[in-house]
Amino acid sequence: MSRTDQELRNLLNSLTLEQKIGQLNMVGGSIYSEFNPTEQDDLIHRGLIGSMMYADPKTNNRLQRRNLELNPQAIPILFCSDVIHGADTNFPLPLAESCSWEPRLAERTAELSAKEASALGVRLTFAPMADLAYDARWGRNVEGAGEDPYLNSLFIAARVRGFQGSNRENIDEHHLGSTIKHFAAYSYVVGGKDYNSSLIDSRTLKIKVMRPYEAGIKAGALAVMPGFNDLDGIPCISNKTLLDDLLRKKWGFDGVIVSDYGSIRQNITQHYANNEEDTTKGALEAGTDIDMESRLYIKHLTNLIKEGRIAIETLDEAVFRVLKLKSRLGLFDSPFTDESREYSEIGTKEVLDLAYESACKSIVLLKNQQLLPLQKPIKIALIGPYANTKDDLNGSWSAHRGFSKTQTILEGLSRHVTNLSYSMGIENEALLISEIQTAVNECDVIITAFGIENCLTGEAASLSKLQLSKKQTELFRHLRQFRKPIVALIMSGRPLVFNEIIEQADAVVMGWSLGTRTGDAIADTIFGINNPSGKLTMTFPRTAGQCPMIYNGYENCRPYQKNDYYTSTYRDVIEGPLFPFGYGISYNHYCYGIATLRNCQINIDENIVVNFEITNEGKYLGREIVQVYVTKIACQPLRPRLELVHFQIEHFKPHEKRTIQLTFPAKNLCYDDENNHGIYQLKIGPNSGDLQSIELEII
Ligand code: NOJ
Repeated sequence: MSRTDQELRNLLNSLTLEQKIGQLNMVGGSIYSEFNPTEQDDLIHRGLIGSMMYADPKTNNRLQRRNLELNPQAIPILFCSDVIHGADTNFPLPLAESCSWEPRLAERTAELSAKEASALGVRLTFAPMADLAYDARWGRNVEGAGEDPYLNSLFIAARVRGFQGSNRENIDEHHLGSTIKHFAAYSYVVGGKDYNSSLIDSRTLKIKVMRPYEAGIKAGALAVMPGFNDLDGIPCISNKTLLDDLLRKKWGFDGVIVSDYGSIRQNITQHYANNEEDTTKGALEAGTDIDMESRLYIKHLTNLIKEGRIAIETLDEAVFRVLKLKSRLGLFDSPFTDESREYSEIGTKEVLDLAYESACKSIVLLKNQQLLPLQKPIKIALIGPYANTKDDLNGSWSAHRGFSKTQTILEGLSRHVTNLSYSMGIENEALLISEIQTAVNECDVIITAFGIENCLTGEAASLSKLQLSKKQTELFRHLRQFRKPIVALIMSGRPLVFNEIIEQADAVVMGWSLGTRTGDAIADTIFGINNPSGKLTMTFPRTAGQCPMIYNGYENCRPYQKNDYYTSTYRDVIEGPLFPFGYGISYNHYCYGIATLRNCQINIDENIVVNFEITNEGKYLGREIVQVYVTKIACQPLRPRLELVHFQIEHFKPHEKRTIQLTFPAKNLCYDDENNHGIYQLKIGPNSGDLQSIELEII
């Protein structure tokens, strides 16, 4: 049972000034190497470790035991970790998983990640990331659900529910507290360069970027992490308008705000604060409750309070929120982790099955010239640097102890065929030629496993070019000379540029970083046991020079027209993306009939109802993600040229023809505090680049 507020206030009042400040201090796992046991005991004794980033049940229990012995107030330490796409078993990267367009799937993977993470002693995760993908050069898009605010909001809320379970006031021992990050607009860093300043206009901030964060707060997330970035010249951790006026007062957030790693200190590097005392004061007063690894709160708050430069009430409120978080997480009643869970609740059949389902649904088929699914018997040459690796298939933030369990693509394909030759293909040129020659000579089809190393996606992994490496492109050209059909797999945690492969391979599969069950998911897709149905949640550009490139920007005053010179385009690249938002094909072709609206004029409180037929022209069972967008006509101020307002997943039998009815609230088209009346073009189709349009009026 969580403590009452009065009990927590009494506890707060019983603490010394130093003990209070200690509750606001979060240390990294490096404390084990940096401190000798005596110093560690001293810190614990003084109550200076309020929370800690570490995931190991035995170590955490040992430290907790010492903490409770030495600390007369017996406030448990909160153990935290970045559980982003799994704790021991790796699920697909969040960006990959969002291509399922199935928030309920993300809820289930978050729930089982929480179960594994809590078995490892973790009680709070720094996830989900609610930053909207904006620029493909930014490496951290991997952690989010792509570029659309509506889809993102559904995914963020689902992940919060999955991590935390149904009762945020009493999180049980199989769930975790969740943290919405990086508040706000961290993905709008200039040039897609990590840790840069964010440049964003106030309208985009309001109508797009804020929506997923707010959805996470409404779903009950217990914590928020301000971004490393600044907004309008004010670093997010010191931004009172953002943290206090908007997050706490307007949105009613009553949880804890935890800084990003070393953020408070970085204000000095950024020339925002003059010295350690100033940044400490600015961050606490803006509302940042926990100092993650700057160690400035424990260094300076005592004096700042004693000198009257910070009101004791400000400190007390922050400490109260931390105690409340610990109470909500059930720490006071069960501070320890049952160590047997590490063996009984990790890597279970349930979690491995879900990892497989999620991996299958994340795969996006980009091209298929009647090659896939492959029919047996068949002789395969599997070639490429990602054919038999494990760590690169897991993606950034993967649980390192889970690498060894990852099934490689080679292992997955070997379950299906014995006639399989394999070559890494890029290490040594002489070896390469002879090895490939042997592998390819006998084969019926070549499967290439291309992609990008783990360290080139995620935090601090911004790229100015998005091409596949030169070696892989050369390898592809070499393979083309054999005139055998080629299936190209792209294993990458981010959109890449691979125009030549798209043009010349017979089939291309976006395999992302799919985690522990990669091998089975890829192989079962290639052989048609899984009919791929994922659709991209990020636009894929033709060249990095087009970035930022999103489907839902504002229309410009001279949209591109092929035969008109003075229109908006780059002169050196074909206009438009390589693949638009929402794109993905399957082994079936779905033919959309003409859509009709039940009512062309509706009130804001009514539902929009659309009917049309879809015919599965293929012979496979299939899953189609039907998408609905709008364009508002004559809109002041401007709205994005296209906005996703609804989608529906439909399952088809072979050759099935069916009437589809889409019913969704007109409110999905509307913005708070704006005039939403007027004419809209409602656009329906299989992706944002292939839509039919009907006119609708909101009266
Ligand atoms: C820095 C990252 O920006 C943040 O997302 C993460 O939670 C922290 N490090 C802690 O690992």
